This record gives sequence, structure tokens and C-alpha cells, in this order.
Amino acid sequence: MLYSDISRTKNLRLIIKVHNMKRVFIYKKYERFWHWTQAFLVVFLAFTGFEVHGSFSFFGYESAVDLHNKAAWALIILTVFTIFWHFTTGEWRQYLPTTKNLKSQIEYYLTGIFRNAPHPVRKTILSKLNPLQRIVYFMLKVMLFPIMIITGLLYMFYRYQWQGEMKSLGIESIEPIALLHTVGAYLIIAFVVVHLYLITTGHTISSNLNAMITGWEELEDDEDDKKDIKENKKKE
Ligand code: HEM
Repeated sequence: MLYSDISRTKNLRLIIKVHNMKRVFIYKKYERFWHWTQAFLVVFLAFTGFEVHGSFSFFGYESAVDLHNKAAWALIILTVFTIFWHFTTGEWRQYLPTTKNLKSQIEYYLTGIFRNAPHPVRKTILSKLNPLQRIVYFMLKVMLFPIMIITGLLYMFYRYQWQGEMKSLGIESIEPIALLHTVGAYLIIAFVVVHLYLITTGHTISSNLNAMITGWEELEDDEDDKKDIKENKKKE
């Protein structure tokens, strides 16, 4: 084979590869606002929370409690708006757990990713999350965040001042609530660490991060795939 043929073959492959990627607007403005505000608040809550817990001293105990409470209210307000957004846009459907392709997704993260194997599940606008993400995010939304908010509010109000009087929710001991809140905090931190690693496992090392910043992501184009297959068949 002549050199020009080889380079033409190489170029053809390159063109097909570029051709098969499509820039798609995948994360809406509110979604990106919610994601980054929640990320900031969760990290801030973890930081101030562990200062309250006594792990270290930075703001000072009193200020840490005050900042933790303020950030907690901000997270509660954000959560209320976001629940509304999920239902009005129908985006909640993205988080319905599925076992379809779950095994291949787990295998991909355990071994395939280190062999440069292709992603087992294609990301599309209608299905942004892979089966493992669906399960993890679903658990975060229906279990971990509600547990943190409920135990946090119980923590705030098990003894509180009302019109100069000390009132109580009638809870005997705050200990089990504090324990659950702290265990939840460790689980959220574990999630954040894994999440940060998985951000780098997209189409390129920064494509997932860029998508959550700009809203745009490069996705493989099914339509182009079909066209290419047809054209290649004609050529054969
Ligand atoms: C909206 C949700 C949340 C609410 C309402 C809330 C509320 C509270 C309250 C009232 C306290 C006790 C402060 C005091 O001693 O006076 C506390 C402690 C704490 N919070 Fe939160 N919090 C929330 C979310 C979080 C999150 C997301 C994290 C970490 C990721 C976190 C980590 C902690 C930790 C580690 C403590 C210390 C627990 C202890 O030592 O007993 N909190 N939180």
C-alpha cells in the first residue's frame, strides 16, 4: 500500500471520529446553578460541621455553629426549589434506578476503565446518568440528604427558645441523632471523593467538568453512526 493511502486511511478514521461527536446542550442553567451551589454548600457544611464536632478549630466553635446553621437553611431552600424544578421539568425521571447495564457499568469502573475500554452506556440528552449513577444519586436524594436535613433540624430544635421560654421537642437524648448526622456526613464526604475521581473519567479528562460549567458536552452521535455505517457499506 502506498504511503498516501495509509495517511488517507488514517485521515478518514480521524474524520469519522470527529464526525461522530456531536456538541449537545445537556445541562440547563438552573441545573448548573443548583449543582455548583449545592457542591459549595455541602463542602462548607462538612467543614463547619466537623469544626462543631471538634475535629479542628478554624472559625471558632460559636461562629462554626452559626455558619453551619446558615448554610443548612440555604441548602434547605435550594432543595425546595430543586424539588420543584425536577417535577416541573420532568427531570426526576433521569434518577429512576435501573438494573439494565448495571453489571457492565460496574465491570467498566473496576477493570474496563484501566484498559481504555469503551463506555458501556451511551450518554444521551434523555438519559444523562449511567445505571450506577442513577442508583447512587437516587439514594442521595431519597435517603442521605433527607436524613441530613431531618437529623439537622432535630438537632436545631430539640431545645429551642420561644418567646423567652425554653421549649423542647420532647426528645430524650440528642446522641442517636448526632450519631446519625455524623455518619451521614462521612458518607457524603465519601461520595464527594468518589465523585471527584469519576468527573475525570468522561470522554476526555475534563469533558464532564466542562459540561457542568458550560452546559455543553461532546456526545457520540447515533445518527452520524448510522450514516457512516451506510456510507461505508456503499464504499465496500
Ligand atoms: C440541611 C442540612 C443540615 C442541617 C439542618 C444541619 C444542622 C446541624 C446542626 C444544628 C448541628 C449541631 C450544631 C450544634 O452543636 O449546635 C450540626 C452538626 C453537624 N453537622 Fe450538620 N446540618 C446539615 C447538613 C450537614 C451536612 C451536609 C454535613 C456534612 C457533609 C453536616 C455535618 C455536620 C457535623 C459533622 C456536625 C457535628 C455533629 C456532632 O459532632 O455531633 N451537616 N448540623
